[in-house]
Amino acid sequence: MTLESTDSATDLASRIPPSFVLGVAAAAFQIEGALRTGGRGPSGWDAFAEKPGTIIDGHSPAVACDHYNRLPEDVALLRELGVDSYRFSLSWPRIQPDGRGAINNEGLDFYDRLIDQLLAAGISPMATLYHWDTPLPLEHDGGWLSRETALRFGEYAAAAGERFGDRVAQWVTLNEPVSVTLNGYALGVHAPGHALLFDALPAIHHQLLAHGLGAQALRAAGVTGTVGITNLHAPVRPAGRTPGDRLVARLYDLLMNRIYADPVLLGRYPRLPLYARPWLRSIGRISDEDLRTIHQPLDFYGLNYYFPVRVALGRGSASIPADVHKSVARLPFHEVGYPEYGSTGFGWPVAPDHLGVLLAELRDRYESALPPVYITEGGASFPEPDTVSGTYDDGRRVSYLASHLRAALDATAPGGAADGVDLRGYYVWTLMDNFEWAAGYSQRFGLVHVDFETQKRTPKQSFYWYRTLSMARKVTRD
Ligand code: BGC
Repeated sequence: MTLESTDSATDLASRIPPSFVLGVAAAAFQIEGALRTGGRGPSGWDAFAEKPGTIIDGHSPAVACDHYNRLPEDVALLRELGVDSYRFSLSWPRIQPDGRGAINNEGLDFYDRLIDQLLAAGISPMATLYHWDTPLPLEHDGGWLSRETALRFGEYAAAAGERFGDRVAQWVTLNEPVSVTLNGYALGVHAPGHALLFDALPAIHHQLLAHGLGAQALRAAGVTGTVGITNLHAPVRPAGRTPGDRLVARLYDLLMNRIYADPVLLGRYPRLPLYARPWLRSIGRISDEDLRTIHQPLDFYGLNYYFPVRVALGRGSASIPADVHKSVARLPFHEVGYPEYGSTGFGWPVAPDHLGVLLAELRDRYESALPPVYITEGGASFPEPDTVSGTYDDGRRVSYLASHLRAALDATAPGGAADGVDLRGYYVWTLMDNFEWAAGYSQRFGLVHVDFETQKRTPKQSFYWYRTLSMARKVTRD
């Protein structure tokens, strides 16, 4: 590690409020492997990944990071990293293999071990109930297009709450329902692979209903921890000043941000522009009772931020060639990107200033309805060459994380652009390189390098930087 990055970690640490949580996040399907072990049932993602052409180079999630079999080693890494909190997800099909009915005790036991080992290491557990691995039988019955899935989710949440409610400090009901709707049901590039475009919209309502039922079930189970949801947000801007670009930017913002946050925080869907009503009609009539269920009081709001979006009117996309995702080419707008920013391995713009913009936007939109906020994910993939000394020199990740943390702290400080947002923590995505959904193992987001042949874990420069930050901050705090 260079002196420069040690210095900036120490420097940054002095700016972090004593109670601010530094964490790291991961998700069951991306790291556990052991898909057919310990009584786990198949998920929609197991089936999707088996179809030819869905995952880059045919990579398989079957082993991933073999985390299921390497739990103590991975908790030791977390302890060494020195984070306050670890955000992980519970695998629904590991806990309830059919998505309804019988609970699999072996699955519960696995998460018992994880939670107990975290607590023994002084790390606070944040558990996400759903990070995209829908039990396959439910997917076969319509998945999130069916209301039934939301009802079943409530039962699963109750089982998880009853078993882990005495030890999990924070609960996240759903991770990024927008990604599931968009990638899984509208574009077909994630499980379950439906390219329904605007007909995918019922998936929004059913996921939000699941969130509400899940939050109710956790509380009814008497969990001692706090309850929230994680939404992905992106500030959306029109590419030009034309009315057409502005119109589609508003539509995109609605579909990306407001349609998920408004019902949860305000108890109503956003007012839809006239031109969007025919598409959105497929959601059907929404009862006041559903809206009340969705609008549960939340202890915190989880925000995932990766990059901002700029859109223009017109079909086609500069960033996604039409022959790659034909369905994208049928949409009435396209993303134009941010060529003025540097980009990540995925080609995503590195735009920390937009994190401040986003936090200010959330404050302005939701005012006192916005609970305390945790940034529950932020991070970047970069190609990482092996250095001569055998350490992984991922200085770009260090700069990415430092600049985003700084931007969030600056924006929410007194007098900052998002002054008034009660920002409580930041979780790096992710602990170790893992199965990056349709990109397989081709995009590495980890603080720890994983050799997928041998399963050897090697901390990268960013790991040591984050550790220095955590440690320096703990010294300041004590
Ligand atoms: C998801 C993660 C994913 C990350 C990077 C987030 O939207 O929650 O599962 O790995 O983005 O693509």
